[in-house]
Order: sequence, then C-alpha cells, then structure tokens
Amino acid sequence: MIKKGIILAGGEGSRVGPSTKAISKHLIPLGDKPIIFYSLSILMLLNIKNILLIVKKQDQASFKKLLGNGKNFGIKIKYIIQKKPKGLPDAFILGKKFIKNDNVALILGDNFFHGQGLIEFLNNALKNFNFGASVFSYNVKNPSAYGVIEQNIKGIKFVEKPIKTKSKKAITGLYFFDNNVSKLSSKLRKSKRGELEIIDLLKLYLKDKKIKIKDLGRGSTWLDTGTSKDILKAGNYIEIIEERQNQKIACLEEIAFKKKWISRKLVKSRIKYYGKSEYSNYLEEILNDDK
Ligand code: DAU
Repeated sequence: MIKKGIILAGGEGSRVGPSTKAISKHLIPLGDKPIIFYSLSILMLLNIKNILLIVKKQDQASFKKLLGNGKNFGIKIKYIIQKKPKGLPDAFILGKKFIKNDNVALILGDNFFHGQGLIEFLNNALKNFNFGASVFSYNVKNPSAYGVIEQNIKGIKFVEKPIKTKSKKAITGLYFFDNNVSKLSSKLRKSKRGELEIIDLLKLYLKDKKIKIKDLGRGSTWLDTGTSKDILKAGNYIEIIEERQNQKIACLEEIAFKKKWISRKLVKSRIKYYGKSEYSNYLEEILNDDK
C-alpha cells in the first residue's frame, strides 16, 4: 500500500524556454489548466492525499498561490525547495523526512497519463505494493528521449536516453518505491550529465531482483511535456477528448468533490475564486448534475 506521493516540479524547463525563465514549466497551461494539475490528479485518483511538492525557490510562491496547502482539494500538500536540478533521485534525499518509514509514489510534474481502466490498473499495483520498486513502461516511437527497458536472453537492462536501442519500451514518470529509497538514493553518484539518474536507482533494485515492470498497454495514453511541441500536442489531445465528452481531464475540484473530500460549499467558493472561465463553468455543471 502507498499513501504518500512526491511530485517533482523543479528543473530548468529550458526546452520550453523562454517562458520558463519567468515561470515554472509546470504552471504553463496545458489545455485549460496548469500542467501540474494532471500529475496531481493522478495521485488524487489513486487516493494519495499526503503529498510533497518539490519546486524551485523562485516558483514556490506561485505554486502556493495556486494550490496552497491542498485543503481546497481535500488533500495535504507540503513544499520543499530544490536549489538545483540535481536529478530525479534527489526527490528522495530531499523527501527523506516526509517519507519516514513508508512506501512512496513519485510522479514527474510534467507527465500526463490517461485512459480507460488506467486508474484501476495503477490502483491494483499500488494496493499490492509492499517492497522494492515498481515502474510502468510504455511503447514509444522515440525511445532515445527516455529511460528505456532493454530485454534479451541475458535479462533486463535499464538505459537512460540510449542513442541506439532495439527496445521501444520507455519508462514513464511514475514510480513506486519502498522505504529504502532515500538511503539508496544517497549512495548514488552523479552521471556524466552531472545528475543523479533514476535509472541508476532502478539498477540497484534490479540487482536485488526487487523491481516489477508493468506495461501500460496501448489502451492508455502517456505523454510528457518536455518541449513546447509536446505541450501543443498534449493540449490537442486533451481538447479533443474534453470537447467530445464534455468531461474534463484533471479537474481537481471535481475529483475531490466526487470522492466526498470537499463540500459543495467549497466548490462554490472555488468557482467564485477562479472567476469567469471554462473551468468554472464546468464546476457549475458538476454541482448541477449532482442535485
Ligand atoms: O518522462 C519520463 C522520463 O523522465 C524517464 O523516461 C527518464 O528515465 C527520466 O530521466 C526523465 O527524463 P526527462 O529527460 O524527461 O527528465 P527531465 O530532466 O525533463 O525532468 C522530468 C521532470 O522532473 C520535469 O518536470 C522537471 C523535474 N525535475 C527534473 C530534475 C532533473 C526536477 O524537479 N528536478 C530535477 O532535478
């Protein structure tokens, strides 16, 4: 079981520049809501209510303005500043006190997951999780942009952004770890790129045969928002689905309200707070449909 989650929303975001000189990539709109809403919604849908959000110092005030302590979404959000983008495993070094002796989920703040049955699938993995690590793979056309799982008769290998690979299996930005993760992360050394690599952390679990790999399958959608083009493409996907179904992806208040974590009164106050917007109109509809 996992009840704690970390969202990593620091990093330079230089590939989305120049906007990211002034604003965190995770606060840029994707569809009609900030990128961070999508990863946060996944944790909420997995009933993870205790969340640590890792951000850059210059962005902390903006994140707090948007998400506060999480009360408006029926969850608890704590913040930690990452001074420099030291790499993904830094999340577990910075988050050591937050994790304590518990298992933890890490989601990258720029990842997007969607699909019929996906939450049920992840929830199952989460409920049955008791030790080691779990990662989720996804077939992509451009594996060189990601951490990759290579498999041959000798076994499994993890490689970060291989220039050449026969594998199409990328490792997505959602990971489950047991409480050894902070200790193991502290043992890692910087790679040639000058970062602590998540792949190196996964290798430690692989060495001990304590890693599970689960494939998300073609019925699910996994996108990331590493570049401006990626944001545009993901935005188009979201627009098409939301427009067709008249249902929003990652509407945080809708999720919290339907889970009975927040009251009707609170949703009303959120509508007022957001002011005139498509997002507010949608929340009105949610309340009307619930009457
Ligand atoms: O998206 C999945 C991929 O994410 C994995 O397949 C790769 O194995 C993994 O290394 C990572 O690759 P990226 O090149 O996409 O990582 P990036 O540096 O873009 O950072 C991903 C997110 O984490 C982004 O939202 C910024 C945040 N971040 C990153 C680093 C390195 C931090 O908050 N702090 C950091 O130190």
